[in-house]
Amino acid sequence: MKKRKFLLLLGVFSASGVIFAGSNIMGSKHDLRANNTAATIRAENVNEICVFCHTPHHSNTAFTGAPLWNKETTAQTFTMYGTTVSGTNPDAQPNASSKACLSCHDGVTAINSIVNVSGTGLDGAGGGLTSPVTYVSMTTDGGGSWSGDVAVPMPANSYANIGTDLTNDHPISIAYNAPNADPDQNPGSLRQTTTTLTGTWLVRDSDGVAGPTIGDLLRNGKVECPSCHDPHADNPIAGGGQHPLFLRRVGGNTDSALCLTCHAKGPMPP
Ligand code: HEC
Ligand code: HEC
Ligand code: HEC
Ligand code: HEC
Repeated sequence: MKKRKFLLLLGVFSASGVIFAGSNIMGSKHDLRANNTAATIRAENVNEICVFCHTPHHSNTAFTGAPLWNKETTAQTFTMYGTTVSGTNPDAQPNASSKACLSCHDGVTAINSIVNVSGTGLDGAGGGLTSPVTYVSMTTDGGGSWSGDVAVPMPANSYANIGTDLTNDHPISIAYNAPNADPDQNPGSLRQTTTTLTGTWLVRDSDGVAGPTIGDLLRNGKVECPSCHDPHADNPIAGGGQHPLFLRRVGGNTDSALCLTCHAKGPMPP
């Protein structure tokens, strides 16, 4: 009997199928350590991982998109997606949580800016913050190598260069409007935000509705880059990770399961 109960519990767990694990930034393209030699774009000397985005002290409090931020943020003006078929307009400019990503992915802003360098010394000069950021030395295999205080943006030929023109990208900083129970009556055939996620996701339960739901993918009720991606997801360059392209759903977008989670253009994915 006891064993049965245990199995039943397991069944419940996998029926919802949602786990709160799957983070593993090490060995991914977001692991910019010099030692991560599999990465095309990486530091030449720095061997910390989080430091390229976060710092425990002296963080960039002018930026609210990601916690304890350790970079400068993008100062670019973006061209937004425009009005959707259903008549929804994105915000005039990307919101902070998307700007976190665009601070490296806009093709202009330096990947290698650091507010508080590893160890002591803020900008490394030893005398406190003498300049807003340090640009650590970087290498991009085949693309060149930059030593000294040089800003290195995402290379123009990188598939990861999203650019400042967002008209050709899935709308971001856009409201998720799904007032009707019948999704076909909602803009974009969107399912309601209280819909429980199926499959296995890397997502934190944060919207006040019990269990992982579509609402947990949104930031201030809007679709932003981290709605679909988690920058720390298990996605090693060597392959075999659960989250190709840092997508939050395990298996990535196989069978378009990611798209079908929000858009009811077919049944909810298994
Ligand atoms: C490439 C940039 C990047 C790197 C490197 C990075 N993070 Fe993050 N981190 C972010 C962003 C962006 C967010 C906000 C994501 C969101 O809105 O879901 C975040 C959020 C977090 C959060 C709070 C929300 C959550 O996801 O749990 C924690 C904790 C965190 N990071 C820890 C770390 C640690 C520890 C490391 C190093 C092992 C690290 N991060 C490396 C970009 C990064
Ligand atoms: C510190 C800079 C930095 C930040 C911040 C950052 N990225 Fe990246 N990202 C990179 C680099 C560098 C690459 C590798 C590009 C290449 O190899 O050409 C990359 C690659 C990727 C890839 C492709 C992964 C693969 O396996 O091919 C995705 C997707 C991605 N980033 C999404 C995001 C999202 C979404 C955010 C915000 C939540 C984010 N990134 C924040 C630097 C960053
Ligand atoms: C609605 C979901 C969604 C949103 C929002 C989203 N992405 Fe993606 N992203 C994807 C999917 C799905 C893929 C994989 C595309 C494929 O397989 O061709 C992808 C791929 C990428 C890639 C790899 C390049 C490519 O075309 O394969 C990068 C880099 C990236 N995303 C960054 C971002 C950034 C930065 C943002 C915010 C400006 C963002 N994404 C917003 C779903 C999303
Ligand atoms: C986190 C939820 C979410 C996910 C995941 C998602 N979308 Fe969307 N999508 C939206 C929202 C919100 C809109 C805006 C709907 C509106 O108000 O018109 C939208 C709009 C669209 C539109 C309509 C744009 C227009 O001009 O009318 C298309 C097409 C689309 N998404 C395709 C996709 C595809 C393909 C995927 C998978 C790669 C995807 N979406 C994943 C939330 C999502």
